[in-house]
Amino acid sequence: MIIEKVYEKVKKQFETDTTGHDWHHIQRVVDVALYIQEKEGGDREIIELAALLHDISDHKLNGGKLNHGGEVATEILNELGFPSDKTQLIASIVDGVSYKGAGVADKMDTIEGKIVQDADRLDAIGAIGIARAFAYGGHKNRPLYIPESNPEMHDSFETYANSKSHTINHFYEKLLLLKDRLHTNTAKSIGQQRHDFMVQYLEQFYNEWNTKIEQTHE
Ligand code: ADP
Ligand code: NI
Repeated sequence: MIIEKVYEKVKKQFETDTTGHDWHHIQRVVDVALYIQEKEGGDREIIELAALLHDISDHKLNGGKLNHGGEVATEILNELGFPSDKTQLIASIVDGVSYKGAGVADKMDTIEGKIVQDADRLDAIGAIGIARAFAYGGHKNRPLYIPESNPEMHDSFETYANSKSHTINHFYEKLLLLKDRLHTNTAKSIGQQRHDFMVQYLEQFYNEWNTKIEQTHE
């Protein structure tokens, strides 16, 4: 079966990742996408394959090549003899899925694409999203937080992808904006609680950051 071969290949590639894009991220995106499909409709096979392949050549991990995932997904599916019209749809979902900056509109015009993007975005917010952001920031040698460095609303994929900011800024540049960029009602209702948790987390973070503990030196 084609789908099993894709599972095998993707698992092998992501098993050793420590940047927040590990095999468990892919698995969660597949599971959540299929859950959303049950409520919202769309073609399950396309959704499962696109979710499996969505990070196959992400710009954050491939040395900075933007929009390269669709090409790699196409090669994999062609090699397995998957029909070319469906392959094309999957490739366009893979290229469209990534967040490209606060000021860059999402281009997802199929229900399958919207569902995969929603599932990927749900995994970027909430407790897991926070863990992934700091894991990725560490991988990229980014500081946790620099109070005097403010977030930027990027209006091109290039400036967003090349930003070197600290991880707390990433919350304002992406994570807190995702709630309003979810497409399906099913994802929106899961997303709200995860969003609220991040807001609460940031409040606690600043409280701790600003705590002045009285020191007595003898
Ligand atoms: P997308 O393709 O939409 O970026 P991914 O599945 O590739 O989605 O996940 C991106 C992950 O990388 C998220 O968990 C996100 O928080 C993290 N990430 C991306 N850019 C940064 C950044 N500048 N600082 C911290 N984390 C980041
Ligand atoms: Ni992803």
